[in-house]
Amino acid sequence: MSDPLDLRLLAACAIVQEAGQLARDYFLRRETLEIEFKGQQDLVSVADRAVEDVIRAKLTRSFPDDDVIGEEGGYATDRGGNRVWVIDPIDGTSNFLRGVPYWSVALAYVIEGRTELAVTYDPVHDELFAARRGQGASRNGRQIRVSDRTDPGRSAIGVAYSFKASSETYLTLVEGMLRAGLDHRRLGSSALMLCHTADGRLDGVAMIYCHAWDVIGGLLLVEEAGGIASNFLADAGLTVPGPVFAGTAALRPTLESLTGLKATRER
Ligand code: IPD
Ligand code: CA
Ligand code: CA
Repeated sequence: MSDPLDLRLLAACAIVQEAGQLARDYFLRRETLEIEFKGQQDLVSVADRAVEDVIRAKLTRSFPDDDVIGEEGGYATDRGGNRVWVIDPIDGTSNFLRGVPYWSVALAYVIEGRTELAVTYDPVHDELFAARRGQGASRNGRQIRVSDRTDPGRSAIGVAYSFKASSETYLTLVEGMLRAGLDHRRLGSSALMLCHTADGRLDGVAMIYCHAWDVIGGLLLVEEAGGIASNFLADAGLTVPGPVFAGTAALRPTLESLTGLKATRER
Protein backbone atom coordinates (compact mmCIF):
# COMPACT_ATOMS: atom_id res chain seq x y z
CA MET A 1 0.00 0.00 0.00
CA SER A 2 1.65 3.23 -1.09
CA ASP A 3 -1.21 5.72 -1.22
CA PRO A 4 -0.27 8.25 1.49
CA LEU A 5 -3.90 8.71 2.59
CA ASP A 6 -4.54 4.96 2.79
CA LEU A 7 -1.42 4.65 4.94
CA ARG A 8 -2.57 7.45 7.19
CA LEU A 9 -6.11 6.10 7.53
CA LEU A 10 -4.79 2.70 8.55
CA ALA A 11 -2.35 4.26 11.01
CA ALA A 12 -5.02 6.59 12.42
CA CYS A 13 -7.38 3.66 13.08
CA ALA A 14 -4.66 1.76 14.97
CA ILE A 15 -3.56 4.85 16.90
CA VAL A 16 -7.02 5.88 18.12
CA GLN A 17 -7.82 2.31 19.15
CA GLU A 18 -4.62 2.05 21.16
CA ALA A 19 -5.12 5.51 22.65
CA GLY A 20 -8.75 4.57 23.34
CA GLN A 21 -7.66 1.58 25.40
CA LEU A 22 -5.47 3.88 27.48
CA ALA A 23 -8.42 6.25 27.90
CA ARG A 24 -10.65 3.35 28.90
CA ASP A 25 -8.12 2.27 31.56
CA TYR A 26 -8.27 5.76 33.04
CA PHE A 27 -12.10 5.74 32.77
CA LEU A 28 -12.27 2.55 34.85
CA ARG A 29 -10.26 4.21 37.64
CA ARG A 30 -11.58 7.73 37.20
CA GLU A 31 -12.19 8.19 40.96
CA THR A 32 -8.41 8.29 41.42
CA LEU A 33 -7.93 11.16 38.95
CA GLU A 34 -7.49 14.72 40.10
CA ILE A 35 -9.95 16.98 38.27
CA GLU A 36 -8.83 20.42 37.12
CA PHE A 37 -10.97 23.23 35.70
CA LYS A 38 -9.86 25.04 32.53
CA GLY A 39 -12.90 27.32 32.72
CA GLN A 40 -16.55 27.27 33.77
CA GLN A 41 -17.81 23.67 33.45
CA ASP A 42 -14.64 22.92 31.44
CA LEU A 43 -12.90 19.95 33.03
CA VAL A 44 -9.61 18.19 32.33
CA SER A 45 -7.48 15.50 33.98
CA VAL A 46 -4.25 13.64 33.44
CA ALA A 47 -6.18 11.24 31.19
CA ASP A 48 -6.77 13.90 28.49
CA ARG A 49 -3.09 14.87 28.45
CA ALA A 50 -1.74 11.32 28.53
CA VAL A 51 -4.02 10.18 25.69
CA GLU A 52 -3.07 13.18 23.55
CA ASP A 53 0.64 12.60 24.26
CA VAL A 54 0.37 9.01 23.01
CA ILE A 55 -1.41 10.06 19.82
CA ARG A 56 1.06 12.89 19.15
CA ALA A 57 4.08 10.67 19.71
CA LYS A 58 2.82 7.99 17.34
CA LEU A 59 1.81 10.47 14.63
CA THR A 60 5.09 12.35 14.85
CA ARG A 61 7.09 9.11 14.63
CA SER A 62 5.13 7.79 11.65
CA PHE A 63 4.61 11.07 9.76
CA PRO A 64 7.36 13.49 10.82
CA ASP A 65 6.54 15.99 8.08
CA ASP A 66 2.89 16.39 9.16
CA ASP A 67 1.84 19.02 11.70
CA VAL A 68 -0.26 18.21 14.76
CA ILE A 69 -2.84 20.26 16.62
CA GLY A 70 -4.42 18.96 19.82
CA GLU A 71 -6.87 20.36 22.33
CA GLU A 72 -4.55 19.94 25.29
CA GLY A 73 -1.14 20.61 23.72
CA GLY A 74 -1.88 23.23 21.10
CA TYR A 75 0.50 23.17 18.12
CA ALA A 76 3.31 20.61 18.21
CA THR A 77 5.06 22.54 15.49
CA ASP A 78 4.58 26.01 14.20
CA ARG A 79 5.53 25.52 10.60
CA GLY A 80 2.20 26.67 9.21
CA GLY A 81 2.11 23.41 7.31
CA ASN A 82 -0.75 22.49 5.01
CA ARG A 83 -1.05 18.87 6.24
CA VAL A 84 -2.32 18.80 9.78
CA TRP A 85 -3.58 16.15 12.21
CA VAL A 86 -6.22 17.45 14.61
CA ILE A 87 -6.70 15.60 17.92
CA ASP A 88 -9.38 15.64 20.58
CA PRO A 89 -7.97 13.05 23.00
CA ILE A 90 -11.20 12.76 24.99
CA ASP A 91 -14.30 14.46 23.63
CA GLY A 92 -16.82 14.40 26.43
CA THR A 93 -14.46 14.83 29.39
CA SER A 94 -17.31 15.90 31.64
CA ASN A 95 -19.11 12.59 30.94
CA PHE A 96 -15.82 10.68 31.25
CA LEU A 97 -15.03 12.05 34.70
CA ARG A 98 -18.59 11.41 35.93
CA GLY A 99 -18.66 7.85 34.65
CA VAL A 100 -21.22 8.52 31.91
CA PRO A 101 -20.25 6.14 29.07
CA TYR A 102 -20.61 8.66 26.22
CA TRP A 103 -17.23 10.02 25.15
CA SER A 104 -14.78 9.41 22.33
CA VAL A 105 -11.27 9.80 20.98
CA ALA A 106 -11.31 11.91 17.80
CA LEU A 107 -8.67 12.35 15.12
CA ALA A 108 -8.89 14.08 11.74
CA TYR A 109 -6.44 14.83 8.95
CA VAL A 110 -6.62 18.08 7.01
CA ILE A 111 -4.87 18.98 3.77
CA GLU A 112 -4.94 22.61 2.69
CA GLY A 113 -8.00 23.44 4.74
CA ARG A 114 -10.04 20.39 3.73
CA THR A 115 -10.66 17.41 6.01
CA GLU A 116 -9.57 14.25 4.18
CA LEU A 117 -9.70 11.61 6.93
CA ALA A 118 -11.77 11.11 10.07
CA VAL A 119 -11.38 8.47 12.74
CA THR A 120 -13.38 8.56 15.98
CA TYR A 121 -13.35 5.74 18.53
CA ASP A 122 -15.83 4.98 21.30
CA PRO A 123 -13.77 2.71 23.56
CA VAL A 124 -16.62 1.84 25.94
CA HIS A 125 -18.70 0.30 23.15
CA ASP A 126 -15.73 -0.65 20.95
CA GLU A 127 -17.08 1.29 17.98
CA LEU A 128 -14.62 2.71 15.46
CA PHE A 129 -16.02 5.26 13.00
CA ALA A 130 -13.88 6.08 9.98
CA ALA A 131 -14.20 8.05 6.75
CA ARG A 132 -12.02 9.02 3.84
CA ARG A 133 -13.23 11.81 1.57
CA GLY A 134 -14.96 10.34 -1.48
CA GLN A 135 -14.85 6.78 -0.13
CA GLY A 136 -17.75 6.55 2.32
CA ALA A 137 -18.01 6.14 6.07
CA SER A 138 -17.92 3.04 8.24
CA ARG A 139 -18.48 1.71 11.74
CA ASN A 140 -16.19 -1.21 12.61
CA GLY A 141 -15.56 -1.71 8.89
CA ARG A 142 -19.23 -1.74 7.81
CA GLN A 143 -20.57 1.04 5.64
CA ILE A 144 -22.96 3.42 7.40
CA ARG A 145 -25.67 5.81 6.14
CA VAL A 146 -27.53 8.74 7.62
CA SER A 147 -31.15 8.11 8.58
CA ASP A 148 -33.97 8.18 6.04
CA ARG A 149 -36.36 10.08 8.30
CA THR A 150 -37.61 13.17 6.47
CA ASP A 151 -40.13 14.74 8.84
CA PRO A 152 -38.63 17.18 11.39
CA GLY A 153 -41.52 16.17 13.63
CA ARG A 154 -40.07 12.64 13.78
CA SER A 155 -36.42 13.65 13.93
CA ALA A 156 -34.01 14.18 16.84
CA ILE A 157 -30.83 16.20 16.65
CA GLY A 158 -27.83 16.54 18.94
CA VAL A 159 -26.95 19.88 20.52
CA ALA A 160 -23.99 21.16 22.52
CA TYR A 161 -23.38 24.15 24.73
CA SER A 162 -20.26 25.84 25.97
CA PHE A 163 -20.29 28.45 28.74
CA LYS A 164 -18.01 30.48 26.47
CA ALA A 165 -21.03 31.15 24.24
CA SER A 166 -23.95 33.41 25.04
CA SER A 167 -26.89 31.71 26.70
CA GLU A 168 -29.26 33.75 24.49
CA THR A 169 -27.85 32.17 21.33
CA TYR A 170 -28.32 28.71 22.79
CA LEU A 171 -31.84 29.43 24.01
CA THR A 172 -32.75 30.80 20.57
CA LEU A 173 -31.45 27.61 18.96
CA VAL A 174 -33.42 25.39 21.33
CA GLU A 175 -36.56 27.47 20.86
CA GLY A 176 -36.16 27.21 17.07
CA MET A 177 -35.76 23.45 17.27
CA LEU A 178 -38.85 23.06 19.41
CA ARG A 179 -40.88 25.29 17.08
CA ALA A 180 -39.71 23.16 14.13
CA GLY A 181 -40.97 20.08 15.96
CA LEU A 182 -37.48 18.61 16.39
CA ASP A 183 -36.61 16.55 19.43
CA HIS A 184 -33.11 17.11 20.77
CA ARG A 185 -30.38 15.46 22.82
CA ARG A 186 -27.41 17.03 24.56
CA LEU A 187 -25.30 13.92 24.93
CA GLY A 188 -22.00 15.58 25.87
CA SER A 189 -19.62 14.46 23.12
CA SER A 190 -19.99 16.46 19.92
CA ALA A 191 -17.64 14.13 18.05
CA LEU A 192 -19.71 11.08 19.01
CA MET A 193 -23.05 12.78 18.26
CA LEU A 194 -21.72 13.37 14.74
CA CYS A 195 -20.78 9.67 14.44
CA HIS A 196 -24.27 8.79 15.60
CA THR A 197 -25.67 11.11 12.96
CA ALA A 198 -23.53 9.42 10.31
CA ASP A 199 -24.92 6.02 11.32
CA GLY A 200 -28.55 7.15 11.49
CA ARG A 201 -29.04 6.98 15.26
CA LEU A 202 -29.49 10.75 15.34
CA ASP A 203 -30.82 12.80 12.41
CA GLY A 204 -28.44 15.73 12.76
CA VAL A 205 -26.59 18.11 15.04
CA ALA A 206 -26.76 21.88 15.51
CA MET A 207 -24.13 23.40 17.78
CA ILE A 208 -23.22 27.02 18.38
CA TYR A 209 -19.67 26.97 19.79
CA CYS A 210 -17.28 24.23 18.69
CA HIS A 211 -13.57 23.85 18.19
CA ALA A 212 -12.14 22.18 15.09
CA TRP A 213 -11.07 19.13 17.12
CA ASP A 214 -14.66 18.58 18.33
CA VAL A 215 -16.25 18.43 14.90
CA ILE A 216 -14.23 18.38 11.69
CA GLY A 217 -13.86 14.60 11.56
CA GLY A 218 -17.53 14.10 12.37
CA LEU A 219 -18.62 16.50 9.63
CA LEU A 220 -16.72 14.43 7.07
CA LEU A 221 -18.29 11.24 8.49
CA VAL A 222 -21.78 12.67 8.02
CA GLU A 223 -21.08 13.85 4.47
CA GLU A 224 -19.51 10.53 3.55
CA ALA A 225 -22.54 8.75 5.02
CA GLY A 226 -24.78 10.61 2.56
CA GLY A 227 -25.66 13.62 4.70
CA ILE A 228 -25.03 17.34 4.51
CA ALA A 229 -22.86 19.58 6.71
CA SER A 230 -21.72 23.16 7.09
CA ASN A 231 -18.13 23.94 6.15
CA PHE A 232 -16.55 24.52 9.55
CA LEU A 233 -13.03 25.06 8.24
CA ALA A 234 -14.15 27.65 5.68
CA ASP A 235 -16.41 29.37 8.21
CA ALA A 236 -14.17 29.30 11.30
CA GLY A 237 -10.78 27.77 10.40
CA LEU A 238 -8.63 25.40 12.41
CA THR A 239 -8.05 27.61 15.42
CA VAL A 240 -11.22 29.67 15.80
CA PRO A 241 -14.37 28.32 17.53
CA GLY A 242 -17.65 28.56 15.68
CA PRO A 243 -21.12 27.12 15.03
CA VAL A 244 -21.80 24.05 12.97
CA PHE A 245 -24.53 21.77 11.65
CA ALA A 246 -24.77 18.39 9.95
CA GLY A 247 -27.53 15.93 9.23
CA THR A 248 -29.81 14.40 6.67
CA ALA A 249 -30.48 16.20 3.40
CA ALA A 250 -34.16 16.39 4.39
CA LEU A 251 -33.30 18.52 7.43
CA ARG A 252 -31.11 20.89 5.43
CA PRO A 253 -33.54 23.87 5.32
CA THR A 254 -34.33 23.49 9.01
CA LEU A 255 -30.66 23.20 10.05
CA GLU A 256 -29.62 26.12 7.81
CA SER A 257 -32.31 28.34 9.20
CA LEU A 258 -31.57 27.32 12.81
CA THR A 259 -27.83 28.07 12.54
CA GLY A 260 -27.69 30.73 9.82
CA LEU A 261 -25.02 28.62 8.06
CA LYS A 262 -24.98 27.03 4.60
CA ALA A 263 -24.35 23.39 3.69
CA THR A 264 -21.11 22.67 1.84
CA ARG A 265 -22.74 20.75 -1.00
CA GLU A 266 -26.07 19.67 -2.42
CA ARG A 267 -27.48 16.17 -2.01
C1 IPD B 1 -16.91 19.14 24.83
C2 IPD B 1 -17.89 18.32 24.04
C3 IPD B 1 -19.31 18.76 24.30
C4 IPD B 1 -19.50 20.25 24.14
C5 IPD B 1 -18.46 21.04 24.91
C6 IPD B 1 -17.06 20.59 24.55
P1 IPD B 1 -14.48 18.31 25.63
O1 IPD B 1 -15.57 18.76 24.50
O2 IPD B 1 -17.63 18.39 22.65
O3 IPD B 1 -20.21 18.12 23.42
O4 IPD B 1 -20.78 20.58 24.60
O5 IPD B 1 -18.59 22.41 24.60
O6 IPD B 1 -16.12 21.32 25.30
O7 IPD B 1 -14.16 19.53 26.42
O8 IPD B 1 -15.11 17.24 26.45
O9 IPD B 1 -13.36 17.87 24.77
CA1 CA C 1 -14.01 18.36 22.62
CA1 CA D 1 -11.30 17.09 24.83
